[in-house]
Amino acid sequence: MSNLSTRLLRIPEIQGKKEKGEQIVMLTAYSSWMARLLDETGAIDMLLVGDSLGMVELGFDTTIPVTLEDMIRHTRAVRNGAPRAFVVADLPFMSYQPSKAEALRSAGRLMQEGGASAVKLEGGAALRKTVRRLVDAGIPVMGHLGLLPQSLHQQGGYRQQAKEPEEQEELLRDAAALEQAGAFSIVLECIPADLAVRVSRQCRIPVIGIGAGAACDGQVLVTNDILGLTGGRTPSFARRYADLGESIRAAVQSFSGDVRAGKFPPSGEEGNA
Ligand code: KIV
Repeated sequence: MSNLSTRLLRIPEIQGKKEKGEQIVMLTAYSSWMARLLDETGAIDMLLVGDSLGMVELGFDTTIPVTLEDMIRHTRAVRNGAPRAFVVADLPFMSYQPSKAEALRSAGRLMQEGGASAVKLEGGAALRKTVRRLVDAGIPVMGHLGLLPQSLHQQGGYRQQAKEPEEQEELLRDAAALEQAGAFSIVLECIPADLAVRVSRQCRIPVIGIGAGAACDGQVLVTNDILGLTGGRTPSFARRYADLGESIRAAVQSFSGDVRAGKFPPSGEEGNA
């Protein structure tokens, strides 16, 4: 019997959650097996194939080396593992910035080849026309404001953004521009909680926080961080709910110990060949 989630959440239901004051839950997934496990819980509203893929799965220091081909491949894997889930895929660095036409081609490939339900891109008012172009073509767009990992060098590192009053006003304008351009939701990363409250109140569309306090319409985290599967730096706002890294190390030690001690395979057992 299939354990696939029977939930078929779509944009009207996601929007409805904001209107009813119900928290929206999003986690990242990069592989079919993880997408299947997350979907089977029935506890996740949206899966995000984030370009954090570059750091948590591919071993890069930043998201900048992640290519459109990487994103299509991993989005397809997630879609294969969770055929009914609402899957948002990140448009990676330089797959949408050069022109509206390029953004349309990249987003189209994420949907057609990757099976994404929606795409996410980083930036505000400067991308208003790009967002409008995608939305007019029938592509749902999630915005991303605050800490923008693709602009890491410009923003001066992984640190809280929009602390100054004028930066806060600019972020509020960016959120309004995204909403007016037709974005269905916005991620706010690593900004002061009181600013996130203002953005969530100002926007009719759901605002999903990560390191942005508790008052957003929902929360997203990197799954590897909550499971203890991240090797290096874990953001201070992430909470660890399991230590699967330790479980994996212990299982591998047991297997290796059994092989070296002649306990695996059990003696007398014939091979299958
Ligand atoms: O790439 C990603 O995982 C993200 C989340 C941190 C929101 O954009």
